[in-house]
Amino acid sequence: MKLLFVASEAYPLVKTGGLGDVAYSLPVALHKAEVDVRLLLPGYRDVLRKLRGVRILGWLELQGAGQLHTVRILESQHPDYPFPLWIVDCPALFDRPGNPYLQPNGYDWADNVERYTVFARAAAELARDALQLNWTPDVVHAHDWQTGLVPAFLDMLPQRPQRVFTIHNLAYGGHFSQADFTSLHLPSYWWSGEGAEFYGGFSMLKAGIVYSDAVTTVSPTYAREICTPAFGYGMDGLLQSRSYKLHGILNGIDNDIWNPATDKYLPAHYAVDAIQPGKSQNKAALLQRFGVENPAEHLPFPLLGMVSRLVEQKGVDLIINAIPDVLAMTDARFVLIGAGHGYFEQRLRELAAQHPDRVFVFIGYDEQLAHLLEAGADMFLMPSRFEPCGLNQMYSLRYGTPPIVLHTGGLADTVTDAVDGFVFHEPLTSVLKGTILRAIDCFYQPAVWQQLQTNGMKHAFGWDNSATDYLALYNKGATA
Ligand code: ADP
Ligand code: GLC
Repeated sequence: MKLLFVASEAYPLVKTGGLGDVAYSLPVALHKAEVDVRLLLPGYRDVLRKLRGVRILGWLELQGAGQLHTVRILESQHPDYPFPLWIVDCPALFDRPGNPYLQPNGYDWADNVERYTVFARAAAELARDALQLNWTPDVVHAHDWQTGLVPAFLDMLPQRPQRVFTIHNLAYGGHFSQADFTSLHLPSYWWSGEGAEFYGGFSMLKAGIVYSDAVTTVSPTYAREICTPAFGYGMDGLLQSRSYKLHGILNGIDNDIWNPATDKYLPAHYAVDAIQPGKSQNKAALLQRFGVENPAEHLPFPLLGMVSRLVEQKGVDLIINAIPDVLAMTDARFVLIGAGHGYFEQRLRELAAQHPDRVFVFIGYDEQLAHLLEAGADMFLMPSRFEPCGLNQMYSLRYGTPPIVLHTGGLADTVTDAVDGFVFHEPLTSVLKGTILRAIDCFYQPAVWQQLQTNGMKHAFGWDNSATDYLALYNKGATA
């Protein structure tokens, strides 16, 4: 089976969140299952710099906003990938530094609509083997709004591959205007309630849902939730009507990259049968990274940790409101790594300034520090208001760092209260606070705590099961 996997980010080349992890691990798992994979990515500056052995596969002339772009398609190898990467190289659209979607000032790039339309056109051209590479995919698997037009462009091919579209987060719809639609010369038949039109504009995510053969999302609970008004972002009706092709497949985690026994970022290793002293050594190292002079003095006290995009989805406001009381009532410490909305960043900096000995905040993106936090914290906070899947709670289970989560989406599917973590049911500061206090009580009961850690660390959240489910879906289409 030949698979063209199309994504706007992939670890370790470019990553802003869990999509990047999945766009690495899933195709690698499918390759292991003998699928012939090509991963197609935009040629952002950081991606181009990391590639080795690049060769040009050919050139495509693609329609942009009122102009044609000459796009080079590159093929390259990367040591972490066992199959070739294909890159859409169009400097005018992608040769930019930093976050792939945002300008340095935090606002979206104004031409995102054009950037991802051209990217999707390139994917569709490659899927019909326009470059005559003698490689035609049986399946094209696209992810999130940035690739939503891929299934739509493929709709126009007489002989098309099976189109699978995965929603990683319905909150990001790729909504643009009718003027954009016109300037990009998109097919007029898409402009309909049954097509990509959405409340007077158009939505790339909606196009992906409408024009694919199968829609998946990244956990079974989220698949049900998005069919309701509370989680549907206006697409619940559409998703209900497409429930015949909607599937919830839980993400896995990469057990090689996220393994406390071998993690290359950790100063001390540990495993389920010998959690200590490794875990405490990581706790000391983590505190040291934040400038704590005598980390040993802090080791007896619970260290709450969080790694997150700082956006409303993640319940950051609940944390900011709950932590001061938790600090007043207990001996807990709190460490956070995150970046996102300026307002949250500022509030967190203030919290750290008010409690310099007990609150440690790093504003920014740091992969290595994220691993150290997963290992060094005692418990992990993830009170997301909604969470399509969530990877961090699975990483923390694996690292013996029981997660504290709201009962929603993938969090509900992966964490069991009082067995391997702590689950609460209402997104309220008071309820979160009560749950943190409950967790801290357990922390001071060593036998109870070790049982929680052990239960979490024994989970098998690898990619094999999920990859098998995706394969079954690909095959279903191929034989339909
Ligand atoms: P989401 O994709 O919604 O952000 P996930 O839990 O699925 O949430 O995945 C988040 C991923 O991004 C994890 O691998 C996490 O470690 C990483 N991450 C998020 N913020 C940071 C940060 N500031 N520094 C390093 N890694 C981060
Ligand atoms: C999105 C979701 C997150 C999920 C990730 C990978 O960013 O917010 O819940 O784990 O995609 O699928």
